[in-house]
Amino acid sequence: MKILVLNGSPMEKSRTRGITNLVKELLQEKNVTISTIDLGIEKLPLFPGEGTDENNITLQKLKREAEAADAFFIASPEYHNGMSGALKNALDFLGGSHFKHKPVAIAAASGGSKGGINALNNMRTVLRGLYALVLPDQFVSDPYCYDEAYQLNDREAVERLEDLTHLLVEMTETRIGIQSEQTQ
Ligand SMILES: Cc1cc2nc3c(=O)[nH]c(=O)nc-3n(C[C@H](O)[C@H](O)[C@H](O)COP(=O)(O)O)c2cc1C
Repeated sequence: MKILVLNGSPMEKSRTRGITNLVKELLQEKNVTISTIDLGIEKLPLFPGEGTDENNITLQKLKREAEAADAFFIASPEYHNGMSGALKNALDFLGGSHFKHKPVAIAAASGGSKGGINALNNMRTVLRGLYALVLPDQFVSDPYCYDEAYQLNDREAVERLEDLTHLLVEMTETRIGIQSEQTQ
């Protein structure tokens, strides 16, 4: 089973990366093959509409890893009530061929005061446009959930993320099982 973990924050120092760091650890414990795209480190060009530079190394990696993935874990900061522009830009380079009927877990880092839900709803709407199977469960976190190094350290938040990661693996196993039955 291969899962692509995508950090949608464009920031060098990022709470959203605190989410994806923990998710990668949790997936490793479950012997899942992980690939990672971190938009705070691996910068993509702006989606040009046409005339995309297909030689861009990060873009090639994004498309290759998305195609190969059985499932996705996608995390975004909430920026102005939506996902980050960096994440939406990355998704614009992809399509149904990368996501169709693949399980996707979504998570958000917010500024607090009940933020985050709009980013999650926005991700859900956009991923529906890519024909992804977005899990009904989701994860949202406030700044108090993180330590000074921006790692997730609130016990309840960690448990919620463990549950979501576990569900993603279960759903992906189920989908892989159904697919292999269909090809027999
Ligand atoms: C441009 C911008 C817009 C933001 N808009 C919101 C918002 O609408 N709601 C919210 O809860 N937090 C908002 N925030 C706060 C971020 O969601 C919060 O700082 C989050 O931890 C950022 O994650 P990151 O460190 O991974 O980029 C905004 C931050 C920035 C930079």
